[in-house]
Amino acid sequence: MKPTKVITTSISNIRFGDRARIDYDDIDALAETIQKHGVIHPIAVQQIDPDKEEYLLVAGGRRLTACLKLGLKTLTVNVYPPDLTDLNKKQIEAIENFSRLDLTWQERVNLENLVYQLEVEEKGEKVSRTPDGEGVTKKSVAENILKKSASHLADNIRFKETIDKLPENLKQAVLNCKTQKDAKNLVRKIFKQTSLSISAREAEERPIEKVHKLLISSYNVGDFFEGVSDFPDGQADFGYNLLEIDPPYGIDLDKNKKMGDGDSQKIGMMDYVEVPRDEYREFIKKVAVESYRVLANDSWLILWYDVKKPWIADILEEVGFNVRRIPGLWIKPSGQTRAPHLHLANCYETFFYASKGNPSISNRGRSNIFNFSPVIAKEKIHQTERPVELIQEVLTTFIDPSSSKARIMVPFLGSGNTILAAANMNMAGVGWDLSENFKNAYTDRVLNGEIPYKSYS
Ligand SMILES: C[S@@+](CC[C@H](N)C(=O)[O-])C[C@H]1O[C@@H](n2cnc3c(N)ncnc32)[C@H](O)[C@@H]1O
Repeated sequence: MKPTKVITTSISNIRFGDRARIDYDDIDALAETIQKHGVIHPIAVQQIDPDKEEYLLVAGGRRLTACLKLGLKTLTVNVYPPDLTDLNKKQIEAIENFSRLDLTWQERVNLENLVYQLEVEEKGEKVSRTPDGEGVTKKSVAENILKKSASHLADNIRFKETIDKLPENLKQAVLNCKTQKDAKNLVRKIFKQTSLSISAREAEERPIEKVHKLLISSYNVGDFFEGVSDFPDGQADFGYNLLEIDPPYGIDLDKNKKMGDGDSQKIGMMDYVEVPRDEYREFIKKVAVESYRVLANDSWLILWYDVKKPWIADILEEVGFNVRRIPGLWIKPSGQTRAPHLHLANCYETFFYASKGNPSISNRGRSNIFNFSPVIAKEKIHQTERPVELIQEVLTTFIDPSSSKARIMVPFLGSGNTILAAANMNMAGVGWDLSENFKNAYTDRVLNGEIPYKSYS
């Protein structure tokens, strides 16, 4: 498409239209250049009516804005005919703008997508393989109009689709990145956080080093609250499907220094970070709020709790969970007590299960009793370690392992066995613990084993 004429006209005859360029920020610098050198490259306009001197801006919004700012009265313009289609206009704008270097990356990506869309709308997508077949391809649009490679356009179309699917707050964070490289890194980070995983099926297809690397990077050393703050809000088809929470217990550690027997002392109580008793309610509330936030709609929460703290269920309800008041029970074949003359040996632990929305239990009708032996003391890497097999059973009770890959978040990892159980079940796990030593012990376990991981030999 070529201009029909080049004329000098009054600036008041030119109207702005709907334009791709959105950033008029650094207009002063351009105005200064125009004042010194004039408008070197004429702006492009469309004549609205062949009999009238009225024009619509097609390309050159920044130059026109700078001229208005300078108070110029006339301007030399390239005039295009009234019958320009939307596609023609965008093509002219694209060609104009792509030949310039001052588009932001956001404008460039939008414009490329738009030109491709308009081309497909007008000419259809090419299906025939013959060279003169009708329609356009990414390659033809990229090379003939945008003067870019086909892979560049395909990448940017995919990138825009990815950004558009993000929840609004994340989309804005990506669009606020200074460069497209930063934006791509951020998108990568977001997806790493939300779907970092290894599954049994994938493991078969990958070299074992990669499986190990992925499992190790799923264990973050750090504070849950700090880590989770980077994670997006859950939505209908985005977010976590289950959170397994085994929080610190809000007890006085000095009185409970005993960790177990023999080798388990190698990672001592020093590594186990507790929460002061008087801050415990506040702590649980914060955990509940963040958990509810990152869960997808229709998802599950499993929260291990001490039967002496039933008020935890009230807090879960307060933040929006539907709590089943009759808990799940992990029953061990034998129990322990430090005062056998006063107490029976306790051989059970309890978890509340609660839902956000209305998910269904995968293993319908299963009893709430989970009979599993504890991990034997000399194999333990964490004082309150749950066996992989128990967690696996809990996960698959609530989530169907054959459905598309589920995401599990584990705020307080300890041994990290929940990530291993998730991996065994083709689910993606991610989590935190404050202790580097626990992670090191987990890393040894990952490196010395393979999927399916086991706690009982
Ligand atoms: C009850 S244990 C979890 C045990 C785990 N279920 C297992 O199977 O090994 C709780 C863990 O939370 C960790 N922790 C305490 N405060 C934390 C925080 N703010 N962020 C991350 N981890 C924390 C403790 O170091 C402890 O290892």
